[in-house]
Amino acid sequence: PVYEATCTAPVNIAVVKYWGKRDTTLILPTNSSLSVTLSQDHLRSLTSARCITTTSNNSNANAVADRLWLNGHEEEIQQGGRTHRCLAELRQMRKDLESRDSSLPKLTDFALHIASENNFPTAAGLASSASGLSALIATISTLYALLPENGVSVSDLSRVARQGSGSACRSMFGGYVAWDMGTRDDGHDSVAVEVAPASHWPDLHALILVVSDKKKGTPSTAGMQRTVATSDLLKHRIDHVVPARMDRISTAIRNRDFDQFAIETMADSNQFHAVCLDTQPPIFYLNDVSRAVIQLVAELNRASVDAGKGYLAAYTYDAGPNAVLYVRERDVKLVLELVLRYFPQQTFDDPFHLGPEPAAASSFVQGFNAAVIPEHEVGAVARIIHTKVGDGPRVLSSD
Ligand code: DP6
Repeated sequence: PVYEATCTAPVNIAVVKYWGKRDTTLILPTNSSLSVTLSQDHLRSLTSARCITTTSNNSNANAVADRLWLNGHEEEIQQGGRTHRCLAELRQMRKDLESRDSSLPKLTDFALHIASENNFPTAAGLASSASGLSALIATISTLYALLPENGVSVSDLSRVARQGSGSACRSMFGGYVAWDMGTRDDGHDSVAVEVAPASHWPDLHALILVVSDKKKGTPSTAGMQRTVATSDLLKHRIDHVVPARMDRISTAIRNRDFDQFAIETMADSNQFHAVCLDTQPPIFYLNDVSRAVIQLVAELNRASVDAGKGYLAAYTYDAGPNAVLYVRERDVKLVLELVLRYFPQQTFDDPFHLGPEPAAASSFVQGFNAAVIPEHEVGAVARIIHTKVGDGPRVLSSD
């Protein structure tokens, strides 16, 4: 028989940022975080895995040599590395299952061959570790039947994904997802939980503004530990800001309160980048174009709030200069029109055909003060990817 599975998993973009570890091996964070899962119709990692049952004369069942290909290139699975630990954990879970049910095939005796690829445009500059690790865990857990009916929950799987990359645990769920930091030293309570499914608030769209600055910054894994070691502001954030913000933004999501959601999202992005600046030596992820986008969104919101219409958009930035704007469906045309007016660019992926629409903006711009947007080059935003909130990992096939 062939034992094989294929799954896809989504990208997630945090609105309350994870930045700092209290345990760098188990990947236990210094604060809880919360993210929105984006649709796999547009951005996803796809992973296939197969148990290599055909090898003959394999007298030593422990000589399991797993192999991994990422975007067509074989990667070494390092002993004791993150991928290795995730696979070891999943094998142990399968072994527990096999020992409870002797009718199950002994899949843990066999090596795994795993192939994974992302469909993101390379220029998108999106971190692929969250969707990649999440797709890996979803695929192996499908292959190993680590399912709710066998006593394994999605949060249990998120605990494994977390050890591959912290933010990956949140991609195990769709919709609106919290990662509870937990308090235990063994990490058992540091898991992802669903705050609300995508269907609860389906009209939240995301515009990813890809800034044409390809410079590589400080990798997040190294950067966050430098912050832990040197930033006083991080301590304040952990103790006095994030806990209450997690409550407020969860409430905003439950109430579909976009104004509150936008206020918390932008404040948290700002504080994350302030904490980076407070690091010694300082870390800069935003550039002039990022800052111009912040000023554009701030002015958009000011004009809209003054006109009694509430917030239009919320920006957030991860460890790089690209902006992600969260916008309600009804406001996408207007926001796009204004973004494209100030940041004319070449490539625009608009699967929803929601704009831009000059008419939507013409009445609005009267109250809008363009003078606050700093000068920037044409083409500073190279590409816009339009997507929206989406579901968790999908099983494409399983044999
Ligand atoms: C800024 O999850 O990539 O995107 O756990 O070391 O793999 P590791 O880090 P990673 O960090 C993500 C940082 C962030 C914020 C977030 O996604 O919450």
